[in-house]
Amino acid sequence: MSQIELGYTADYHVHLRQGEMMELVTPTVREGGVSIAYIMPNLTPPLTDIERAVQYKNDLQKLAPKTTFLLTFYLSKLLTPEIVAKAADEGVIRGIKCYPAGVTTNSQAGVDPNDFTAFYPIFKVMQEKGLVLNLHGEKPSVHNESGDAGEDIHVLNAEPKFLPALFKLHKDFPELKIVLEHCTSKAAIDAIYEINKDLKEGEEPKVVASITAHHLYLTIDDWAGNPVNFCKPVAKLPEDRRSLLNAAVSGKPFFFFGSDSAPHDLSKKSTHIGVCAGVYTQQYAIAYVAEIFDKIGKIEMLKDFVSTFGNAFYNMDESKLVCKDKCVLVKQDVEIPEIMTFDASNLKIAPFRPVEKLSWSTKW
Ligand code: NCD
Ligand code: DOR
Ligand code: ZN
Ligand code: ZN
Repeated sequence: MSQIELGYTADYHVHLRQGEMMELVTPTVREGGVSIAYIMPNLTPPLTDIERAVQYKNDLQKLAPKTTFLLTFYLSKLLTPEIVAKAADEGVIRGIKCYPAGVTTNSQAGVDPNDFTAFYPIFKVMQEKGLVLNLHGEKPSVHNESGDAGEDIHVLNAEPKFLPALFKLHKDFPELKIVLEHCTSKAAIDAIYEINKDLKEGEEPKVVASITAHHLYLTIDDWAGNPVNFCKPVAKLPEDRRSLLNAAVSGKPFFFFGSDSAPHDLSKKSTHIGVCAGVYTQQYAIAYVAEIFDKIGKIEMLKDFVSTFGNAFYNMDESKLVCKDKCVLVKQDVEIPEIMTFDASNLKIAPFRPVEKLSWSTKW
C-alpha cells in the first residue's frame, strides 16, 4: 500500500501560542497533515473570556484559512457557570482544559487537583451543554522530608497518582465527556479500559484518553540527558510505552490522537534552569504516527486513531469544517531538520527527531 486516504484528520491537543511563535507554527498544522486542530488555552494570560477567544480564533484562521480550529477555555477561578454557558451556546469553545497548578508551562493559574469541588457548578453546565473536560492528569510534586515514601509525588508517578481523581469525576458527572490528555503510563491506559469495560459495540465512550506521537517513541532514557525530548507528563518506562502503542493501534474508540505539539524557542529548551517542557511535532504530526504504526505492521489502524475516533467523540462532521480537503498519506521520505529556522524571525525550534528520515508524508 503506497497511498492511504485518512479522511478529516484531527489533532485534539495543539499549542499554537501567541505573537511570533503563533505566526510561525499555525500554518504547520496543515503541513503536518491535520485538518482539525483543538487548541490549548495556556496563553499569557490564560484564555478565560469569550472576547479574547473569538479574537484568538480569528487570528489563527487568518494564518491558516483551511484549518478548522476548535477552541478551549482555561479552567480557573476567573470562569463562571454563566460565561461557560454563554460560550457554549455561541459555539465559541468546544471544551475546557484543566491544569493542576504548577505541573507545566503556564499552569500557575490552574486548579488544586486534590479538590475539584470548587468547579462543580462549571462541570454541571459543561455536562448539560456537552462541553468536553480536558484533563492534564498529573498531581503536583510533593517531596516529604519525613514520612511515608508512598506519599511522595514526582514526575514518574504524578499521572498514576492522579487517576483516583479521574474516577471520582466520572462518578460525580457520569454524562460529562472527559479526556485524559497526553496519557503516558500503563496505569492510565488500564484505567481507561476499566472505565469503558461495559461499553457496548457502537456505544459512545464518555471517558477517553488522547495519546501524543512523541510518547509512542520516547522513554525516560530519551529525555534524561536531552531537554529537546523533555515534556510534561514525562515519557516513562518501556512497559508504559508498549502499553500506549498497543492502545493506539487497538481500534478502541476511547484512544485517539492529540499531539500536544508544544513549541518553545531553542533558548528555552537549552538552559540551566527552567527548561520549558514540550516537544514540537506539528510539522510532521501524522507522519510520526504513521512511521511507528507501520513499523509494528499496524498502518491500517491509523485512520481510526488520527481521524475517526476523535471526530466521533467531539461530534465533528463535515458541516463544521472550513475546508473539506482530505488528508492522504503517501510513501515518501522526508528528512527532519535538526533545527528549524525562519526567514522572518530569529526564533529557532528543535523538532522531534526520533529518526532522521520519516518514510511517510502527507498531502492534500
Ligand atoms: C514550568 C512550570 O513548571 O511551571 N514548566 C515546566 O514544565 N518546566 C513553567 C515554564 O517553564 O514555562
Ligand atoms: O510538555 C508540555 N508542554 N506539556 C504541557 O502540558 C504543556 C506544554 C506547553 O504548553 O509547553
Ligand atoms: Zn497538558
Ligand atoms: Zn499540552
